[in-house]
Parts: sequence; C-alpha cells; structure tokens
Amino acid sequence: MEKSLTFAMIKPDAFKNDYTSEILFEILKAGFKLRAIKITLLTLEKAEQFYSEHRGKEFFERLTCFMSSGPVMALILEKPDAVNEFRKLIGKTDPAEAQEGTIRKKYGTTTSQNAVHGSDSVEHAEREWGFFFSRREIH
Ligand code: CMP
Repeated sequence: MEKSLTFAMIKPDAFKNDYTSEILFEILKAGFKLRAIKITLLTLEKAEQFYSEHRGKEFFERLTCFMSSGPVMALILEKPDAVNEFRKLIGKTDPAEAQEGTIRKKYGTTTSQNAVHGSDSVEHAEREWGFFFSRREIH
C-alpha cells in the first residue's frame, strides 16, 4: 500500500440522530482526504461477517443487530499515519471514557452506539475496506 489509508464507518446512530454530515465535516477538517465513500445497509449476516473477530463475545449480538438497524457510511481516508490519527480523532470505544473534543465523546451515546468505527491496524483496514469497495470505487 503506497499511501497511508484507513477505513472508517459512520454508524446507524449517527444517521438516526442526523449527525452524519457534521461528523464527515469533522473528519475532513482534521485533514483526512476522501478516497472512497458509500452509504449502504448491512444485513445482519454482513454485520456478523464484518465483526467476525468479536463472535462469541457478550456484546456480539447487540453490536451486529445495531449495525444492521439502519444505514452506514463507509469511508476510505488518507492522511499520514491514517490508522492512528483517525483513532485519536474518534477517541475511546466507550463515549463516556473518550477524551473531550473527540467524535465519540461528542456524538456517541453507548459502547455499541458510538457514532463511528475506525480500523485498529493497517491489516484490518485493508480487509475492512475490501468488504465494502471494489478497486474501481477507490480513487
Ligand atoms: P468499533 O470500532 O465498531 O469496533 C468494534 C465494536 O464493538 C466497537 O466499535 C464497539 O461499538 C463494540 N464494542 C466493543 N466492546 C463492547 C461492549 N462491551 N459492549 C458493546 N459493544 C462493544
């Protein structure tokens, strides 16, 4: 991978609360370039595949039901050290523990309904965007 990219997803709670464009604007303001963007719906089966590493955990069903409950916005973002920079921008998984000013602090409500997903490694980012985008949809 020549450029530093990450994968992100704006979650159904942000759509329900009408925060999608504000969150996207925050991401762009933070210096990320959009390489791909798509609004789509995850079926329960697709959400289970996407989060397969969490299968068997106590929150798996809650998470996958929520993630298939409404639209998501899938994004491929470019910035130097994109994976780490994006995770700093969104903050900790639980919005109550996230630092002031982070996206999850501002827009998330619970650990599942935390407004946005960001890949935790370059390897996971490649797998995750491959789940949503074909080569010709990435610019
Ligand atoms: P995300 O970045 O989408 O990646 C995995 C998700 O699992 C995480 O954000 C949370 O939404 C969810 N998650 C992790 N731990 C818990 C938990 N204890 N309860 C509910 N959801 C969780």
